[in-house]
Amino acid sequence: MRIKPEQAIHELQSGGIVALPTETVYGLAASIHHPEAIQKVFAVKGRPSDNPLIVHISDLAQLNDYVKQLPPAFEKLAQAFWPGSLSLVLEADTKVIPDIVRAGLPTVAIRVPSHPLTLEVLAKTGPLVMPSANLSGKPSATAAQHVVDDFGDAVPVVDGGECVQGVESTILIYRNNRWVVARQGAIRIEALEEVLGYRPELHTNPDKPLCPGQLYRHYAPQATLTELDREKSGAVVGFSDREYPWASKVYLLGKSSDPEVVAHRLYDVLRQLDKDQVSAAMVDMDFPETGLWRTIRERILKAAS
Ligand code: TXA
Ligand code: MG
Repeated sequence: MRIKPEQAIHELQSGGIVALPTETVYGLAASIHHPEAIQKVFAVKGRPSDNPLIVHISDLAQLNDYVKQLPPAFEKLAQAFWPGSLSLVLEADTKVIPDIVRAGLPTVAIRVPSHPLTLEVLAKTGPLVMPSANLSGKPSATAAQHVVDDFGDAVPVVDGGECVQGVESTILIYRNNRWVVARQGAIRIEALEEVLGYRPELHTNPDKPLCPGQLYRHYAPQATLTELDREKSGAVVGFSDREYPWASKVYLLGKSSDPEVVAHRLYDVLRQLDKDQVSAAMVDMDFPETGLWRTIRERILKAAS
């Protein structure tokens, strides 16, 4: 069910949940002032309660009400990337940010998204939690129709078009005097390096992730995904400037020279595999190890695991 921003504002203020567009992926929103609505977000997604939620705000000025100390270079990051696809994990004012949002942690992840419709809603509702608007474990939703496919009428959605970026925000945590990348995402590590003056380390211990959510299966279609093998026939997820003459069917991500388009299309392609009831697909992983490609590779590997 599609609703207008005004209806979304009304729903959220009266303790309901709605899906909102962001520039990364669609979010499943509830007001931080309505714990019962937040409970519902966990329930409809099938999300484990130990996986905390990102709090979205429209204005930096609101921040002081919700967090304690701001780490060094916070202002630089906020200035460079907000509104936008960066989430920063900060020390929470635990009296104001409910336990359920933080999954009991002393910290809270914060983001100022840039989609105009959602900024309009946030300006009226105040802070909203917004996990990605997909069933837990499935690829995130990058179009209003994806939200409808996952939740039907249980979640009304504000249709803001296709998400420009198509992969989730990059999450940074400050530890041991450095910002660390806890989840790769739409903001490239190279862009962070330019602003910070050092390259933030990528935290890669899968048994002890900095984001609790990374313990869980993610972004995954029904199909078993494996790396492209030119000896085998079958469905292929690949690039529009390459040929796969032996493939039984090809799902195109875009050109191998255009990571922005590939990121933008990735979840739609993974969802298309499910729609076509594909049981196995091979993915062309022959692309660079830099920039946005790093995020794309990480998402594909997660989807395959
Ligand atoms: O782009 C995005 O970030 C989207 C849009 C809707 O804003 N949201 C999103 O939320 O991807 P979700 O819930 O699907 O992923 C949030 C991730 C989870 O892995 C969670 O564990 C982590 O953020 N997270 C949230 N709060 C945290 C905290 N205080 N410390 C560490 N990780 C946290
Ligand atoms: Mg998610």
